[in-house]
Amino acid sequence: MMIHSLLRRHCLPFFSAILLLCGMPLHAAETPPAKAAIASAHPLATQAGLSVLGAGGNAFDAAVAVSAALAVVEPMGSGLGGGGFWLLHRAEDRRDVMIDGRERAPLAATRDMYLDKNGAVIPGLSVDGPLAAAIPGTPAALAHLARHYGRLPLAKSLAPAIALARNGFAVDEHYLKLAQFRLTALRASPAAAAIFLHQDALPDLGQLIKQADLAHTLATLAEQGRDGFYQGPLAERLVAGVNSAGGIWSLDDLAQYEVVERTPVTGEYRGWRVISAAPPSSGGVALISMLNMLAAYDLDKLDAATRTHLTVEAMRRAYRDRAEYLGDPDFVKVPVERLIHPLYAAGLRATIHPERATPSALLPGGEEPTRGADTSHFSVLDREGNRVAATLSVNLPFGAAFVPPGTGVLLNDEMDDFSAKPGTPNAYGLVGFDANAIAPGKRPLSSMSPTFIESERGIAILGTPGGSRIISMVLLSLLDIVHGGDAVSSVAVKRFHHQFLPDLIQYEPGALDEKLAAALIARGHALKQGNRDYGNMQTVWWDKVRNTVQAASDPRGGGAAEVR
Ligand code: GLY
Repeated sequence: MMIHSLLRRHCLPFFSAILLLCGMPLHAAETPPAKAAIASAHPLATQAGLSVLGAGGNAFDAAVAVSAALAVVEPMGSGLGGGGFWLLHRAEDRRDVMIDGRERAPLAATRDMYLDKNGAVIPGLSVDGPLAAAIPGTPAALAHLARHYGRLPLAKSLAPAIALARNGFAVDEHYLKLAQFRLTALRASPAAAAIFLHQDALPDLGQLIKQADLAHTLATLAEQGRDGFYQGPLAERLVAGVNSAGGIWSLDDLAQYEVVERTPVTGEYRGWRVISAAPPSSGGVALISMLNMLAAYDLDKLDAATRTHLTVEAMRRAYRDRAEYLGDPDFVKVPVERLIHPLYAAGLRATIHPERATPSALLPGGEEPTRGADTSHFSVLDREGNRVAATLSVNLPFGAAFVPPGTGVLLNDEMDDFSAKPGTPNAYGLVGFDANAIAPGKRPLSSMSPTFIESERGIAILGTPGGSRIISMVLLSLLDIVHGGDAVSSVAVKRFHHQFLPDLIQYEPGALDEKLAAALIARGHALKQGNRDYGNMQTVWWDKVRNTVQAASDPRGGGAAEVR
């Protein structure tokens, strides 16, 4: 037996016992970061998080404050009527965990609820109004975070959001653009129109949106915790409001809602550990699968056309698997181990032609175009080294555009993330199959990909909104950091995307120059330039070599990143 294995077997328990007796952790203590940092999609949400850190809260309390503030000031992206995934790293025991606060289908939901008698999808039914709304998870997740990970009571961490709801926030251009996009749906809900519009028209730039009912709902959550939202008078108002407008919620739906603590999916890429969202998100699995395929190439030594071609081919194959295999793991068996295994990726890589695009039609499976500037992401690091990467959503901008009267809660339209009809694309052009079919109490498949990456060089906390394009955006930002970038470069990186079907590379203006575009076309790729930029990445980067902290908010959005 080798000497070091003898030492490990016989001496390690002894040393461990001594360390435990001395009250020391078994692993070497990590030097904590010199600063704390928050990057979020709205300056007021970043401020809410900083004020809670300043009041003695940790990163988890700050995450409650930022989530709740975003619910008030960025209602088009996330809110109490929605859900999300909070990826946590707790420094004291180095525990990584994902709080799954994803919405669940109502118990009365049925597989074919959005189909007409001929089996065709009824347009709009899974997108607008209360029938599109799944049971919200965000209030339960905030209560869970505060109770199990935070240091402050909910009343303290929700206080900034309550004040913002009472005092109002100013309408900006982003709000106006998305309210215009959802104007018809918002007008159809009198309670939503009364809050988010002005006399049934778009509010003026700079007009204050005050949300007295939402302030009251947040205060109830602060006082009573989870049950204040999911039981009692508020729950009754939510159910009555939904059902009187054609929805199918019950009090049992709310009473039974639970967050789930899930083990994140993990992988390795060129000496970096990647920690990302587990199912019912497809994000982590697809991200690690793409990285595994790309790990065999020296990307930074390749010319731009080859590098982009190989990255696109990895995206194509991971998104194909997403459609085929991913769903709610509490309902379907998702072969996570296989999909994130390097040998499985080697098999996929073997099908990539180094010089020619693989037509998606040659791969089994089926799907179509993307829209969406919805959802929200924020990243937090505190001075103890605790971290949060959280991606939250109400799905399309302003969700279902429906507010049950007297609640101030704008409901999600996350039911559209199910496959209403296997093989038929949803609002993001994503096709799914049976794994993501609707079932009572099931969570719809998501692309939200809050992610950490760690190496000797440093730790990054990152994520973005953007529907189906979330995963490819996180991939490109992650590659930027791994190949020498930092927070600022990771949020600015130009974006291209392939999601298997439609079979084309979608890209934002400036992402592919003329020469690169011509080289990709010559390899058999179809290209489609979008008419605007997309995504809203929020990155915190802790450079461990220099022990410096940097935070950056996507230049495409109106967010704010602060280091304190
Ligand atoms: N609603 C967007 C997503 O979860 O992927």
